[in-house]
Amino acid sequence: MEQYIIKGNTPLAGEVVIGGAKNAALGILAAAIMSDETVLIDNLPDVRDINVLLQAIEDIGATVIRVDKHAVKINGSTIKSMCIDLEIIKKIRASYYLLGAMLGKYKQAKVALPGGCNIGSRPIDQHIKGFKALGATVNMDHGMIEASADRLVGNHIYLDMASVGATINIMLVAALAEGKTIIENPAKEPHIVDVANFLNSMGAKIKGAGTDVIRIQGVEKLHASEYSIIPDQIEAGTFMVAAAATKGDVLIKNVIPKHLESISAKLEEIGASVEEFDDAVRVVATKRLSHTQIKTQPYPGFPTDMQPQIATLLALSEGTSTVTENIFENRFKYVDELARMGASIKVEGNVAIITGVSSLMGAQVSAPDLRAGAALVTAALVADGVSTVDQIYFIERGYEDFDLKLRGLGANIEKVDSEDEKAIKKFKLKVG
Ligand code: UD1
Repeated sequence: MEQYIIKGNTPLAGEVVIGGAKNAALGILAAAIMSDETVLIDNLPDVRDINVLLQAIEDIGATVIRVDKHAVKINGSTIKSMCIDLEIIKKIRASYYLLGAMLGKYKQAKVALPGGCNIGSRPIDQHIKGFKALGATVNMDHGMIEASADRLVGNHIYLDMASVGATINIMLVAALAEGKTIIENPAKEPHIVDVANFLNSMGAKIKGAGTDVIRIQGVEKLHASEYSIIPDQIEAGTFMVAAAATKGDVLIKNVIPKHLESISAKLEEIGASVEEFDDAVRVVATKRLSHTQIKTQPYPGFPTDMQPQIATLLALSEGTSTVTENIFENRFKYVDELARMGASIKVEGNVAIITGVSSLMGAQVSAPDLRAGAALVTAALVADGVSTVDQIYFIERGYEDFDLKLRGLGANIEKVDSEDEKAIKKFKLKVG
C-alpha cells in the first residue's frame, strides 16, 4: 500500500501552481455528454475522481479523447447505453451528475447510487425532488437509481437546503427541458457558476448562477464548446493553510482570490499575512498563530471541505478555538489521528473544541477521507520527527501530485510503498 513518509518541522517556501477545480470538473464532464458535438475541456485536474468519471463516460459509449494530462475532448453522439452500473462509479459522489445529464438529454437514465467520502449520511432527496418537479419518474431498486420522463417541463423548485449536487443536477436537466425553470435557494459555490457558464457556452440559457435564484430557459439542444475549468478553491486553501501552519512563505498561483475570501479572512484574523494579487495569493506566517471560532457554511461561508485543514492549524495555535461543522455530521474522524500526534481536541456533537499545543510529534496515521487526509499531511509537515500517512488513495482522489507540489516548496515528503523498507530507510537517512 502506498503511503506518504514525511519529516516535519520545515517551513514551506516558494511557489505552487493550483490545478482545475475537481468539483467543477465533475459537473462539467457530465454536462459535456449532453451535446452531440465535440466539446474540449481544459484545465482538468488529473485526479482519481475525474479519471473514474471519464471511464464511466467512455463506458456508456461516448467518445473520450485525452488530449493531454489536463485536457479532454468528449463527444456524446456515440452514447449507446443509458445505464451505468460500474463498481468503480459507486466510489465517486458525482456519479449522480450522469443521471441528470442523461435524463436531460435522453429522458432516461439508470445509475448506481453514489458513494464518495464517508463523511456522514448524504441523502439525495433534493435531487429527486427536482427531477420529479421537471416531470420525471424516479425509482430506486437494488442500489440503482432510475429516472425517466415522456416530457421534461420547466418548473419552480425550492431547495430545502443549498445543495451543491442538487443545484447542478437540476441545472443539467432543466437546460434541455421545455420552458422555464426557477431554482430558489440554490447553492452558490464557484463551481455552480462554472458549470452554468460551461452549459451556457454550449448554448444553454442559465441566468443567476451564484445568486439566490437561478433562472433557466430550456433549449432544444447543446452545441460544441471549448472551455477552461476554474482553479480549485480547496486545493488553494489547503496550500494556504499548510503555508501558515509551517510558518512558511508561499505564493499560491493560478487562483481566483475572491473564491478564497473566507479562508483568507480567517488566516488574517489569527495573525497570518495574506497578500492578494490578480491571480495569486501569498501567505506568510512568522509567529505562532492565535485562536478563533469557525463555522462551516455554504459558500460564501467557510467551506466544509477546508474544515479538517483549518482545525489542524488551530490545533497548533495559541489558546482555545472552536470549529463547528454545519454541513456533514461525521466529519471529525481525523481528530483521533491528530490526537496521536499530540493534538488536544474534544468533539461535542458537531463542535470541535481545540486547545492549541505548541508542537506535534511525528506518528503513523491514516487518512480517513480526502480532506482529512490533506489535513494529516499538513500536521506531519509541522510535526517533530518522521510521520507516515496511510490510505493516501483518498488524498489522490482530489489532489494532483500533492507530494510533488509540497516537495517543490521544500517539504521532506516521499510517496513510498509501506512494504518497501529499503525506500523508507533511504528516506530516513536522507532527512537525518
Ligand atoms: C459537494 C462537494 C463536496 C462538498 C459539499 C459541500 C462535489 C462532488 N462534492 O458535495 O466536496 O463538501 O458539496 O460544499 O461537488 N443534502 C440533503 N439532501 C440532498 C442533498 C444534500 O439532505 O438531496 C444535504 C447533505 O446531507 C449535506 C448538505 O445537504 O448535509 C450539503 O450537501 P451538498 O451540497 O449536496 O453536497 P454534495 O453535493 O454531496
